[in-house]
Amino acid sequence: MNSVNSQERYPILTAQAWLCLAAATLAGRTAGQATADETRALKELYADKFRVGVALSTSQVLGEQPEALALAARQYNAITPENLLKWAEVHPEPEKYEFGPADAFVEFGQRHGMFIVGHTLTWHNQTPAWVFEDDAGQPLSRGALLARLRAHIHAVVGRYQGRIHGWDVVNEAFEDDGALRDTPWRRIIGDDYLEQAFRFAHEADPKAELYYNDYNEWHPGKRRAVSQFVRSLKARGVRIDGIGLQGHWGMSYPLLDEVEATLSDYGKLGVKLLITELDINVLPRSNGQTAADVAARDAAAEELNPYAEGLPPEVDEALADRYASIFRLFLKHADKIDRVTFWGVHDGQSWLNNWPIRGRTAYPLLFDRRLQPKLAFEKLAGLAAPARQ
Ligand code: GLA
Repeated sequence: MNSVNSQERYPILTAQAWLCLAAATLAGRTAGQATADETRALKELYADKFRVGVALSTSQVLGEQPEALALAARQYNAITPENLLKWAEVHPEPEKYEFGPADAFVEFGQRHGMFIVGHTLTWHNQTPAWVFEDDAGQPLSRGALLARLRAHIHAVVGRYQGRIHGWDVVNEAFEDDGALRDTPWRRIIGDDYLEQAFRFAHEADPKAELYYNDYNEWHPGKRRAVSQFVRSLKARGVRIDGIGLQGHWGMSYPLLDEVEATLSDYGKLGVKLLITELDINVLPRSNGQTAADVAARDAAAEELNPYAEGLPPEVDEALADRYASIFRLFLKHADKIDRVTFWGVHDGQSWLNNWPIRGRTAYPLLFDRRLQPKLAFEKLAGLAAPARQ
């Protein structure tokens, strides 16, 4: 996804549409379908290395997929919400917060003794336009937007104080070349909006861990900029506990050397490293940007959707090998890595079924649509040292 920036990454769907599509994808499953008979749990196998986490969808936390939720509880010891804490979901209108799904998410995590991650407080995507405007639809002043950001962070982080253990405070603020991304946050507040967000989050829950989260951090420019940002926060006494590397990766990118260079570089900063949104796409890439490109991609969907009838065994195996190589690297750097989170419980849930092309059949995770463990699960289970007694 090297050349994909975030504007391109959300060309088609609103947050609501994402949720509808996810629900539609899952509607094909019938209740009571066989679930995995796993005798091994990743959270135990990797217990002395790092936490192993998973992203939960809104429909899952609302109890609409009990088997998927049960699988998450058996296998993982950390959870992140896919969407339900993003601004557009939790705070859709100026005076309206929707805490129901987030409450259910946190209760689930607490019930299972999990490490609970909040995602995400400050982002340019899935944030309503009104956030940046006054009642007359004019851009807010710096002071007014800072006040709005602070109030949002206090409301959301404050509500879950002591229960959500770590927050992705700022998401995707840098371009691949290291420039600060041009977003309404930056245009209105200025370059210090990131630091302000971290300060507000710390005020709202002084004990919570605070993270910066991004993708494509194997690009040297972005890596340098994020490192510099972390150093500058620390130098000014602003709390930052970790850097999230999203990990939306493919079969051939990033190179293992690039991942390793990133882990080594970031490892020198004295913060935790978190692999926050891991999935590995086996489908062909398509990076169209304009509406015409999108239409053309839809027309070509068949060619770009080669495994609609099922994943051929050799591709399943190649995916498992790719996961194993990446995890060997994670194990080598386990002293720096605090958590590895998969971006979804099973293939049917993945955003990659609908991005960058709608309606494909994607296979990026460890469990298939019937919640059965894939070869990748077997390989990762086999790689881990025996669980600590
Ligand atoms: C980014 C965001 C996530 C999610 C993924 C795609 O990485 O951080 O919340 O939206 O894109 O699903």
